[in-house]
Amino acid sequence: MNNKNSVFIATSLDGYIADKNGGINWLNSVPNPNNDDMGYIEFTSNIDALVMGRKTFETVMGFDVPWPYEKPVFVLSNSLNEIPNSHKDKAVLVKGTLTEVLEQIHSKGYKRLYIDGGTTINNFLKKDLIDEMIITTIPILLGGGSSLFGDLPSELNFELVESKVFLNQLVQNHYKRKNR
Ligand SMILES: NC(=O)c1ccc[n+]([C@@H]2O[C@H](COP(=O)([O-])OP(=O)(O)OC[C@H]3O[C@@H](n4cnc5c(N)ncnc54)[C@H](OP(=O)(O)O)[C@@H]3O)[C@@H](O)[C@H]2O)c1
Repeated sequence: MNNKNSVFIATSLDGYIADKNGGINWLNSVPNPNNDDMGYIEFTSNIDALVMGRKTFETVMGFDVPWPYEKPVFVLSNSLNEIPNSHKDKAVLVKGTLTEVLEQIHSKGYKRLYIDGGTTINNFLKKDLIDEMIITTIPILLGGGSSLFGDLPSELNFELVESKVFLNQLVQNHYKRKNR
């Protein structure tokens, strides 16, 4: 099976993944009475593990719900020396360059990875290590916050695979990398 790095994320109309206070409540700004998962369950059924930045990991640790992931979670951080005791059985800390980190994860048999967190996604994009992105746009302008995208050393071309509308309000675009 080939290695694949995928992004599945929601952004505001102005391209933020967290608001000025780091909050994500705006993700629920469109009523979703039937709890449409917008393809999340199907997406996660096709990944082997998650790789997330320390900030996203801390956000998820702070949720007042049971741990939401069934697949292994690898956390990138230079500042953490270990995963907090409360989550030692839930996540693994990984360190090194992205190439080293990926080698480590692939060697454990996890090939299809869900890459999460804005800084983390950008670090992968800077090394041209993202193969597909599924981006759901919420119709809200946050006016500031954490951007999904940032500076890159060079252009990266993607092609649109599919576009879907959910709840009559959210547009979900699925892109894959081309011309590599
Ligand atoms: N809208 C959505 O769907 C969505 C999805 C995910 C997250 N979010 C939100 O977005 C915010 C987090 O995004 P973010 O951009 O601030 O951060 P992030 O990518 O989750 O975390 C950034 C941190 O990850 C670590 N890191 C990233 N790349 C690394 C590398 N190559 N090597 C070592 N460590 C690395 C660093 O941790 P250290 O500082 O510890 O070294 C860095 O400060 C949170 O508020 C979260 O709730 C929203």
